[in-house]
Amino acid sequence: MTKFTASTQPLEQTEGDVIILKFFEDEKKLEPKVKELDQKLDGEISELLQSGDFDGQMKNTATIYSHGRIKTKRIVLLGLGKKKDFNLDKLREAITYTLPMLKKFKAKSISILLSKILPHSTDLKTTVQAMTESIFLSSYVFAEYKNLKEKRVDLESIHFVLNQAAHKANAQKGAHDGLIIANAVNFSRDLANRPGNHMTPQALADAAIQMARQNKIKCRVLEKSEIKKLGMGAFLGVNQGSPLDPKFIVLEYFGKKTGQPTVLVGKGITFDTGGISIKPSRKMEEMKFDMCGAANVLGIMKAVSELKLPYRLVGLIPATENMPSGEAIKPGDIVKAMNGKTIQVTNTDAEGRLILADALSYAARYKPKAVIDYATLTGAVIVALGTDYTAALTNDEKLFSKLEKASKQSGEKIWRLPLAESYREKIKSPIADIDNIGTQEGAGTITAGLILQEFVTYPWIHLDIAGTAWTTAPQPGKPIGATGEGIRLTLEFLK
Ligand code: BES
Ligand code: ZN
Ligand code: ZN
Repeated sequence: MTKFTASTQPLEQTEGDVIILKFFEDEKKLEPKVKELDQKLDGEISELLQSGDFDGQMKNTATIYSHGRIKTKRIVLLGLGKKKDFNLDKLREAITYTLPMLKKFKAKSISILLSKILPHSTDLKTTVQAMTESIFLSSYVFAEYKNLKEKRVDLESIHFVLNQAAHKANAQKGAHDGLIIANAVNFSRDLANRPGNHMTPQALADAAIQMARQNKIKCRVLEKSEIKKLGMGAFLGVNQGSPLDPKFIVLEYFGKKTGQPTVLVGKGITFDTGGISIKPSRKMEEMKFDMCGAANVLGIMKAVSELKLPYRLVGLIPATENMPSGEAIKPGDIVKAMNGKTIQVTNTDAEGRLILADALSYAARYKPKAVIDYATLTGAVIVALGTDYTAALTNDEKLFSKLEKASKQSGEKIWRLPLAESYREKIKSPIADIDNIGTQEGAGTITAGLILQEFVTYPWIHLDIAGTAWTTAPQPGKPIGATGEGIRLTLEFLK
């Protein structure tokens, strides 16, 4: 576990492997602490800046070796880009560019100078939290299945050098929270990166039970017989083709004894073949990620409990595979969801909305003040928004404006799509209440949202994370594989 410390001591007296100094592109003047350090280093910092060899642009870095002139071995200059464009998310990005260096240096202890780089509206705690998150999110490696393990950057200590002693507690708190949050995201990434043969509904339930036990969260796993008794016919219909039993995972966190809870629902398809409406084989292996919504719910609950936040929170995860077989559900079959509505399953690959139909119906029993669901629900959302934006669909304006703020603060991007009234007609089936794909041309993400809405009786946000839940090309802070996107957004939203 990384240790965090903070002090106002001069940089030249700071011990460790690396000192990180941050510079804007358009600022050549050294702040007092850096000026002192520069003198001890015979003016090497100012020389680098004046020569233009280091220009403070985003992604730009430079290393100075101290050769015993100060107590730390290396000084890394880190570019932040233009001051006027700078924000919390740029800071997160900039920090990620130090990681390859820290790795190469095999750094164990680093020091970061915390100068005033963000506008006054952003407090120091938030700044430190963002930096800490960024360090631990970008150093994530999934190596569970490798014999030759790639090492995560293993930092024993991070020391924050402050200009004012009064900021110490805030820096410590920011680092403490940032580490909890990054660990929760990485926990979620670990679950989602496991392949379908290991991350089965049972394995997902076991992971939930274990996480809950470690975090004073109540956890109950409903077995197939109970799922039947509850009348979750849509969820059972999806499970029908799989030799593995479904699990309905219920988690409850009591950060507060009373009051209406917020309920989080996560799609837990541990592998989506499409069922009888089978998917093409190209990229089908990525459908192990079809439980990223479930992994998000587990990550959020872990973080909320470790942060000891004073809420009531419920997590619901319907978990099953979607498989073809002689017993599988067939196109045209009709199932009845827990709320009594009947659904014609025209396409067995539109299974997420079926399992969520029952989970959202179940959520009503908590009389929730809000429900958020996370689902890798539609390929169409990638067509609409690409891989940087999560689609948000909601029946509640207030919830949305809160979510939008949380998005700005966390840097996890969302874009609202309408629950278009005019398309509602199109989800009707001639012989059942609802058709699971409907007849609307295009707008697949909206259609899916409208279908979910049929099972909702409370303020609700649906997040379609099909484009954002995993990445096939590394991005700043997001190594290849599951991203855990939606967790930091929600933690900010809950605050
Ligand atoms: N899990 C998929 C959605 C998905 C596809 C996520 C590709 C990420 C990448 C979902 O169950 C699905 O198959 N949806 C269908 C719905 C269609 C049949 C109406 C889709 O998007 O093609
Ligand atoms: Zn599917
Ligand atoms: Zn799916």
